[in-house]
Amino acid sequence: MLAPWPDSGVASLPPMRDTRCSMITSDDGNAVAKTVEILGNDGIVALPTETVYGLGASISSARAIRRVYETKGRPTSHPLIVHLASFEDLEKYAVDVSVDARICARACWPGPFTMLVRRDERVPDEVVGGSEFVALRVPANSFTRRVIETLGIPIAAPSANMFGRVSPTTAHHVCADLGGHVDLIVDDGPCRIGVESTIVDFTQDQARLVRPGGLPIEDVSTILGYPVVVNDRAVPAPGTLPVHYQPRAAVRVIEEHESCEEVLTTLRNSGKHVVALRHVDSLPLLASTLYSQLREADEVGADVIVAELPVATGLGLAVRDRLRRASSN
Ligand code: TXA
Ligand code: MG
Repeated sequence: MLAPWPDSGVASLPPMRDTRCSMITSDDGNAVAKTVEILGNDGIVALPTETVYGLGASISSARAIRRVYETKGRPTSHPLIVHLASFEDLEKYAVDVSVDARICARACWPGPFTMLVRRDERVPDEVVGGSEFVALRVPANSFTRRVIETLGIPIAAPSANMFGRVSPTTAHHVCADLGGHVDLIVDDGPCRIGVESTIVDFTQDQARLVRPGGLPIEDVSTILGYPVVVNDRAVPAPGTLPVHYQPRAAVRVIEEHESCEEVLTTLRNSGKHVVALRHVDSLPLLASTLYSQLREADEVGADVIVAELPVATGLGLAVRDRLRRASSN
């Protein structure tokens, strides 16, 4: 049985979605053309990125953008990240771009880095929920960049999962979550980074971290020559709710003063099916396997997933953020 999701706003997962998926591999000679054709005709396509799979729509198709929100069960007040083909498109879709923002984009794109900047009117209202700001990024995945380039229009893409749930890092995850509700899924293998992009707000005097992610925030501070403002609490900014990334199983985070062994023993003695997150010393490996580990625990029917928090630096900051939100109720 699924646990209820009282007042959390997290989309409930139907017991079984339609798992008949239309899938193509990125090395298929027709994959770019087929993807572009669908996107150019109000379609939605699950696309690979180096962070997580995205549910893509052309920003010029109001119908496709609406379908993205509906398919995810996502409130339209949560704006979408707009994916550009290259740095050169930055000032076509943003205005009043600060020197700091330009320097970071130049240094970090393509890559797991998203900038919040003032939007140009070329970005339609429905993509950003009427906000005067837009989140922009150039993904590192070469297939997806080729699609954006060929389409000639940026692609809005949230992570290709049900709202509030665990993000997909393989095409199979997308198929299991969204099934036949997507016109096409492009399989490019597992995502290299495995957690979403780092989002930095450049609309105020000082750069401010909105969401820790695949690019260590320390790298952005080094590029800027001053520390990006970081707040390690779960702040409910638009779309960054304290409850997010939730598997079906409950997630139990081990606090610093606790012993993991003791918590595991207590939970097991109470008859719960407990799965512990695998220990890995490498933060990149931990990040890239995090979501598949949460999903695997659900597949084996775990009641509780026990997770130790990594250090709060580098990719560890993103992993901590995801585990904290996954464990909120
Ligand atoms: O790595 C990523 O960023 C992935 C891949 C697919 O690119 N995308 C992703 O999108 O994580 P999504 O929608 O799952 O998360 C984007 C976050 C949300 O919290 C959203 O509210 C916030 O970025 N965001 C997007 N546009 C915004 C805007 N104009 N103002 C404030 N927040 C915004
Ligand atoms: Mg998401």
